[in-house]
Amino acid sequence: GNGSPAEPTNTFIVNSPNVVYTEAEIRSKYTYRTTSVETDDRGNFVATPKETPYEFKVERKVPKVGMMLVGWGGNNGTTVTAGIIANRHKLAWETKEGPREANYYGSVIMGSTLKLGTDAKTAREINIPFHNILPMVHPNDLVIGGWDISGMNLAKAMDRAQVLEPTLKAQVKKEMSEMVPLRSIYYPDFIAANQEDRADNVLEGTKASMAHVEQLRSDIREFKSSNGLDKVIVMWTANTERYADIIAGVNDTADNLLKAIEQGHEEVSPSTVFAVASILEQTPFINGSPQNTFVPGAIELAERHNAFIGGDDFKSGQTKMKSALVDFLINAGIKLTSIASYNHLGNNDGKNLSSQKQFRSKEISKSNVVDDMVEANSVLYKKGEHPDHCVVIKYMPAVADNKRALDEYYAEIFMGGHQTISMFNICEDSLLASPLIIDLVVIAEMMTRIQWKASGSEDYKSFHSVLSVLSYMLKAPLTPPGTPVVNALAKQRAALTNIFRACVGLEPESDMTLEHKLF
Ligand code: NAI
Repeated sequence: GNGSPAEPTNTFIVNSPNVVYTEAEIRSKYTYRTTSVETDDRGNFVATPKETPYEFKVERKVPKVGMMLVGWGGNNGTTVTAGIIANRHKLAWETKEGPREANYYGSVIMGSTLKLGTDAKTAREINIPFHNILPMVHPNDLVIGGWDISGMNLAKAMDRAQVLEPTLKAQVKKEMSEMVPLRSIYYPDFIAANQEDRADNVLEGTKASMAHVEQLRSDIREFKSSNGLDKVIVMWTANTERYADIIAGVNDTADNLLKAIEQGHEEVSPSTVFAVASILEQTPFINGSPQNTFVPGAIELAERHNAFIGGDDFKSGQTKMKSALVDFLINAGIKLTSIASYNHLGNNDGKNLSSQKQFRSKEISKSNVVDDMVEANSVLYKKGEHPDHCVVIKYMPAVADNKRALDEYYAEIFMGGHQTISMFNICEDSLLASPLIIDLVVIAEMMTRIQWKASGSEDYKSFHSVLSVLSYMLKAPLTPPGTPVVNALAKQRAALTNIFRACVGLEPESDMTLEHKLF
């Protein structure tokens, strides 16, 4: 870096013949080492080390990026907006526990570090902020906008959310009162009936239409041009919708989906219309809610347009704990036999989820999160065997955004004994979800500037349209069709870290630390 010696910048360059820096790009040659397994005649595995040479290319110039939130006036939308403004102005505010300063705690990108390597002289670990591994956009620089079916300005909507301290709100109020969500599309059948009284900012029409797609596309273009942006990322943080039925001829292929929108078919959800509009604008679209926005036709459309999509459902509190704890238990050789998960919450999300069809979307997304870990352990579980798993959510207005998650993990240990872990997790919901929104936007944007090719081939191309690299932040990670879903939290973080390392020609972090074991 070029900072003064007194203040290290924590940036780095890679000193390797495989890595070349130009003004515009970082180019690296990277050997991907895996193990290929075959089964011989007698049923034994034969494991063969395999090397695949790739080349990566990272665009160095950090663009000016806009973040457009669907559901901007909700708890997450207002909290992430206030949080970014507070960080941008380096605000401090009084609380009963003393002064607090704006921070990005809870964001992997902004709040965590990764090991770059070991000090050449002292052999001590050198860790750098995660944000510095690649030339990523800084969240303070995001231009924020979006849509909501409620027309309240963001200052009032922030009061409605009951999340932030009054002393902080007072300092961002003026700026936020000037932010007003764009009119959105509202198809009442998809969200709970109890949401109707806030729907005062809606475009005409209660079914999908090309006019809606065109309006949302023009909203994205207009936001981009009026703010002088290079890129926009669109994120669904609006209400949880019911599932859409997957119907042959309606949403099973890209062409059928477009036709269904044209014909105003009632199984096309608002979130899918937003996804289609974003895809057609080549704008990455991420779904932070559990519903099946990405019907097969939407995925095919994204692939056709080389547009990035990611989802589903922010992984903030209970499920994040689950994907860490179950990973630990099963990898410790302990046989988890049941998980009972109760939640009660009192925010508008909870009100919406008190309706059966919307709850069902959440139940599905919360239920499959241990499958990969169970399936990977054939010592503890027979084929098809699963721990019992039940998820309950209740609406309790008084606790507002301070969601309660009560979990009991019951496991079988040595010689028929039992271990019971009981957990009470108060998830200040929007304060956990907001940093995830930031991470998802920053990572998705970064992925638009990374290209790869197999060594020797002519052309660079992008990663697959479905950004499974976002899995760490999502409860029910969407992966490219036909590829496995990874829920284990540690694996998800390792994938993200090591892919970004590979882009600058660094080996995966193996944690072997042989330098401290072999002398
Ligand atoms: P919220 O109910 O406070 O906000 C949702 C906003 O979306 C509301 O302002 C509503 O008016 C608006 N809206 C509804 N339909 C719309 C449409 N068609 N177009 C534009 N706006 C629309 O909910 P909150 O707490 O902000 O959560 C948002 C979503 O994120 C929910 O689906 C929730 O399940 C999901 N989520 C939240 C997590 C968390 O807060 N920790 C964790 C996981 C998921």
